[in-house]
Amino acid sequence: MTRTTTIALDGDGRWKAAAVAALRAGNIVGVPTETVYGLAGDATSESAVASIYAAKGRPSHNPLIVHVADADMAERYAAFSDDARDLAEAFWPGPLTIVLPLRRNVKLAAAVTAGGDSLAIRCPQGPLRELAEAVDRPIAAPSANKSGHVSSTSAQHVLDDLGGQISLILDGGPSSMGLESTIIDMRGAPRILRPGALPSEDLSDVLGKRVSVTDGAEPDRPVAPGLLSSHYAPSVPVRLDVLPEDVRAKEAYLGFGEHQLEGHENLSPSCSLDEAASALYAALRRQDRPENAGIAVAPLPRDGLGEALANRLKRAAAPRG
Ligand code: TXA
Ligand code: MG
Repeated sequence: MTRTTTIALDGDGRWKAAAVAALRAGNIVGVPTETVYGLAGDATSESAVASIYAAKGRPSHNPLIVHVADADMAERYAAFSDDARDLAEAFWPGPLTIVLPLRRNVKLAAAVTAGGDSLAIRCPQGPLRELAEAVDRPIAAPSANKSGHVSSTSAQHVLDDLGGQISLILDGGPSSMGLESTIIDMRGAPRILRPGALPSEDLSDVLGKRVSVTDGAEPDRPVAPGLLSSHYAPSVPVRLDVLPEDVRAKEAYLGFGEHQLEGHENLSPSCSLDEAASALYAALRRQDRPENAGIAVAPLPRDGLGEALANRLKRAAAPRG
């Protein structure tokens, strides 16, 4: 067991000195991003990357997203097309991950790409970007949760899942977006591998062409290996599209808009998908209690962020493998 220290993101930069020292020493750190908390390590260090897989209990065939300080750092590791460059310019720093051909002969731990020849790359907002800049290295960071579990949207969630396994967590308060980045594969015709915090319409607008969305669930050949059917899952069963009158005894209800139940949570009384996205994972974790027979979720709209919410909820509700 390791003693886990939490440091708040404050004005005096103590967090930065501590995190930079940890990353330079090859240790792994829980770091907030605008999407969800990441479990960060030096992407050029085989041992740091091995520690990430070990702490999460993540299967080794599931590659990691590499986070960079800016587009220049990204270009050193991945081969950008003009369209990919347009996306980076429009949305970075931000909640967009771009999958591109990995450049040959770059110094990157092989486990980051799970031995593959593509690289998922993102320039995030906030402290993780600052850390990539300060250590002048790409930072590998999956979501900071146990493999298969709900992603972390607060420092406490990271501590709940990974406490005792990592030495440092940076506390930046609740994640502003609360849903993982959108992943787009730009190696051929643009294809969204994971809907996420950036709606697909925004991507089509910049590219000036239609962007297809796979939901990653081709069971024989998952395109983003993390998108196996049961994922983002609490331990109690989850039921979807449930109206208040159909909630069962001992089920916790997550309402939306007018679909709500006295004494239960409502993801957004005002029907805001932004608000529901930032509330969802914390609500799933809160209601994941043995005294609850399950979690029933109200119907949500499918437009904009609703696409990503539906994708995550489907996996949270999938039969456990
Ligand atoms: O918002 C996010 O994306 C967060 C923050 C921390 O950046 N990260 C995150 O990472 O959600 P993770 O590891 O939990 O999910 C990354 C997904 C996985 O499904 C993985 O299979 C997929 O990205 N992925 C990684 N590298 C890939 C690649 N080269 N090709 C296709 N999919 C890839
Ligand atoms: Mg994850």
